[in-house]
Amino acid sequence: NVQGDSTNQTSVQNNTAQVLGPGIHAAKNNTKWRFNSTEVQKMRQHILKFYNPETNLTLRKSGIRIGQQLKYEMKWGNKTSLNVTKNFFMLIPEESPLKDRHFNTCTVVGNSGILLNSSCGQEIDSMDFVIRCNLPQIEGYEKDVGSKANLTTMNPSVIGQHFGQWENKTADDYDRLIRRLEQIGDQILYVPTLASWVGYQWVSAIIQILLQHKLPMKTAFPPGINPVVKLAWTKAGFKMSALRPSTGVTMYTLAATICDQIHMYGYYPHSKDTRGRAISYHYYDKVSGDKFAHNFLEEFRAFQELHRRGALVLHTEPCR
Ligand code: CTP
Repeated sequence: NVQGDSTNQTSVQNNTAQVLGPGIHAAKNNTKWRFNSTEVQKMRQHILKFYNPETNLTLRKSGIRIGQQLKYEMKWGNKTSLNVTKNFFMLIPEESPLKDRHFNTCTVVGNSGILLNSSCGQEIDSMDFVIRCNLPQIEGYEKDVGSKANLTTMNPSVIGQHFGQWENKTADDYDRLIRRLEQIGDQILYVPTLASWVGYQWVSAIIQILLQHKLPMKTAFPPGINPVVKLAWTKAGFKMSALRPSTGVTMYTLAATICDQIHMYGYYPHSKDTRGRAISYHYYDKVSGDKFAHNFLEEFRAFQELHRRGALVLHTEPCR
């Protein structure tokens, strides 16, 4: 009885569309699904043993000095560490921007094409804290994905993937990138810089852009946390055969420590929805996904299980 699989999914799928909560549309055929605060607490207490939003969300100035070599999680040739330049140091915060923060409702928005024509924008924006992944395009998709963003992640490689190969970027690519970054306003930009050396030139580009344009956002640069997240996930009893957890899993991990009610949208590993409609990998473009780094199906099954327990809501049906 698995939500989103092409077989036998109706009952859980219906439950998903019928969750009640602040800003959530009331059920058409109300069923018994409710957040289970015991399960929410259980996941929070479990994850806090591994991941703490005060120390794992970002490097902090107090623990770092200019010139320090920070170890990458994955060795790449003989490149093992990232040098803390003066500019990089300037962007490292004094404290985690989520220290001592707590929210009632949170949305974690993945980028699957399942969001297209979902009309979920209003619901997503109605939550207290909204997390988005990889600096996604929002303009033009507001009806389906909303526009609020309190924390936006950005893998350095996003620059190369979505804004032209950096060396050959056009003025248009550059303007689009700046516009996208400006949309973050004074909220949080989360840039994992320590996964591996690959993409280090984009890290430099991001640092330069943020400083040059004096963008007002709060920045967060996680210390190497993939092993931490992977451990929390597997010790919770979930499989993770992929090289590293997806951004989506990492953001759920964060959300579990600071949010009471977690709503997940845009997580969908299948190429068809329950009505046989083709689903693109991203809602905003036509690329096909990186099948090497992640196993979204495995992650999705874990989220389905957490949904079943009432620890989170996995939304995969249109909102209206
Ligand atoms: N996602 C999903 N199904 C999709 C696309 C994305 O479940 N079809 C979720 C994943 O958890 C993913 C997150 O949404 O990490 C953000 O999507 P994307 O930006 O496409 O992530 P990737 O670049 O593919 O992977 P990552 O940042 O995790 O390396």
